Amino acid sequence: MNILTFRTQEELNKAGAGIITGLLQTNPRAVLGLATGSTPIGIYQELVESHRQALVSFAKATAFNLDEYVGLEPGHPASYYTFMQEHLLGLVDIPPQQCHIPSGTATDLQAECASYDSLLEEYGQIDLQLLGLGHNGHIGFNEPDATLEGGTHLVELKESTRTANARFFDKPEQVPTHALTMGVGTILKAKMILLVVRGADKAEIVQRALQGPITTDCPASLLQTHPHVVVLLDSEAGGLLK
Ligand code: F6R
Repeated sequence: MNILTFRTQEELNKAGAGIITGLLQTNPRAVLGLATGSTPIGIYQELVESHRQALVSFAKATAFNLDEYVGLEPGHPASYYTFMQEHLLGLVDIPPQQCHIPSGTATDLQAECASYDSLLEEYGQIDLQLLGLGHNGHIGFNEPDATLEGGTHLVELKESTRTANARFFDKPEQVPTHALTMGVGTILKAKMILLVVRGADKAEIVQRALQGPITTDCPASLLQTHPHVVVLLDSEAGGLLK
């Protein structure tokens, strides 16, 4: 695990975007696993800027998002589909048919999970999986539990996760109770994982995830078993590392 700590958000964003840009420059057909939330926004802005400067193209890339809320139509302002359109996928040259996100409004959610996994299977392996980190150690929406799922599945969100994500909704009660998420098995199957964490409020969970015991109580701790993880932290998030 390669842990890099940055003094400024700008440096962190440029480093994250640089890794993704470098991958696409050497492998234009790369399969990207993408995340939503506050953490990747600055990296996405850098990628959009690099694309504007013709330094990188997404035209042949494929994108798979980690997760989507159950019950939100793609056009809902707080859906992860909308988030990705507004922050990255709608602003670069990736064709829409190469962008994949589970549908949280499918009538049969189990079938939707199975078909997302089949599609992932067709591509074999994600080349680079971008991850943020939840305060409780979740990755994607794989919440702490006695056991973790390997494939895409329906998950009930922890109250702490709903509270943390309430900032994207008009009222806290509008935060969906469930989501579809890629499983930990799919995440760990990626060739490379880029974990990005910012802020003092995540310092404790960063320490547990990167240096604590490997346990399903902290799903991100399973990343310690992956051979090719790069972690980008700001100095606040890395403040409790030993
Ligand atoms: C988002 C996702 C989540 C977030 C995590 C951190 O697609 O899967 O695991 O990465 O909740 O969220 P932020 O970045 O908003 O702190």
